[in-house]
Amino acid sequence: MSSPDKKTITVIGSGLIGRSWSMVFVSGGYSVRIYDNQPGQAANAIKEIRKQLEELEGVHMLRGELAASQQVALISCFDDLAQALEGAFFVQECVFEQLEVKQSVFQDIERLVGKDVVLSSSTSCLVPSNVFSKVQNKSRCIVSHPVNPPYYVKLVELVPHPETTSTVMDTTHALMTKVGQAPVRLRKEIDGFALNRVQAAIIAESWRLVQDGVISVKDIDLVMSEGLGMRYAFIGPMETIHLNAPEGLEDYMKRYGEGITRVLKSFGPVPDFCGEGSKSIANEMCELIPNDRQHLSARMERRDQLLMSLSKLKKEH
Ligand SMILES: NC(=O)c1ccc[n+]([C@@H]2O[C@H](COP(=O)([O-])OP(=O)(O)OC[C@H]3O[C@@H](n4cnc5c(N)ncnc54)[C@H](O)[C@@H]3O)[C@@H](O)[C@H]2O)c1
Ligand SMILES: *[C@@H]1O[C@H](CO)[C@@H](O)[C@H](O)[C@H]1NC(C)=O
Repeated sequence: MSSPDKKTITVIGSGLIGRSWSMVFVSGGYSVRIYDNQPGQAANAIKEIRKQLEELEGVHMLRGELAASQQVALISCFDDLAQALEGAFFVQECVFEQLEVKQSVFQDIERLVGKDVVLSSSTSCLVPSNVFSKVQNKSRCIVSHPVNPPYYVKLVELVPHPETTSTVMDTTHALMTKVGQAPVRLRKEIDGFALNRVQAAIIAESWRLVQDGVISVKDIDLVMSEGLGMRYAFIGPMETIHLNAPEGLEDYMKRYGEGITRVLKSFGPVPDFCGEGSKSIANEMCELIPNDRQHLSARMERRDQLLMSLSKLKKEH
């Protein structure tokens, strides 16, 4: 096995997220070796990535210093796991979101890499204790949870296993920063990490407000997109409250804390997202955007275009 030179990363699984990570890593000048256990899948991924990078170059949205052709040249694909792992200092796993699949993939990887190689998972819903339960040396394991699409939405949640060393956290944080992502550290693992816990709270209250007949589906979405979301693309909830009272956060809570507590106490129980009541919410949504492929794809394309423009704006500020 050749010794890791800190320039090579192996991406395991070449679906949506594996391809995105590959694009992010090569934008930072890293060599990327892609492995997928579906023969031919990794090769297809490179074709798809080339197309995407050329399109991005065409609209001046390519990340990094290198031309699209130079970035594509940094990617290679393998149908053999051992070959794919050769020379890598960092492994980013992006296989199906199934616990058993991830556990066995990491078991296989651990047998094939040197002891200092960082093992990182893209899991969105599984905690590190479960994902890495079959790995012997858990101190080098970490979850690096991206947000879709990572090319425009740069947040990466770094979630340690209870045994993860601070060196592994720091190495991963430095790597993510170097390739232009925005890493955040969770100090310990928790179900849903940070992003999905906040998101769940927003979904639950939005759902309750619609279900209780307070507001329409269309209008609750406007509350976010034309209201809260305008700020949240640039400043988070903590800075928001800090800036919303003359003397900052403590002052804000003196003025509004009681009101917030009263409102929070009126929140209902966890909604039944799949019961009878959900039908009318689904119908209301489908009247706005029918749930067929064509309509959904068009809206997804619009979303990605808008995110691209927003990430351009953020880069300028
Ligand atoms: N899609 C998202 O929005 C999103 C966001 C954040 C995190 N994630 C996480 O990223 C991971 C990948 O998600 P995705 O959307 O890219 O899935 P996907 O289904 O698009 O891709 C999974 C790929 O993994 C390959 N694969 C499956 N088992 C394998 C194995 N044993 N060895 C090698 N390759 C294998 C498949 O052939 C497929 O190409 C999941 O853990 C998911 O939770 C997804
Ligand atoms: C376990 O992983 C850590 C972090 O990569 C490494 O420093 C250590 O040497 C490994 N231990 C063994 C026994 O392989």
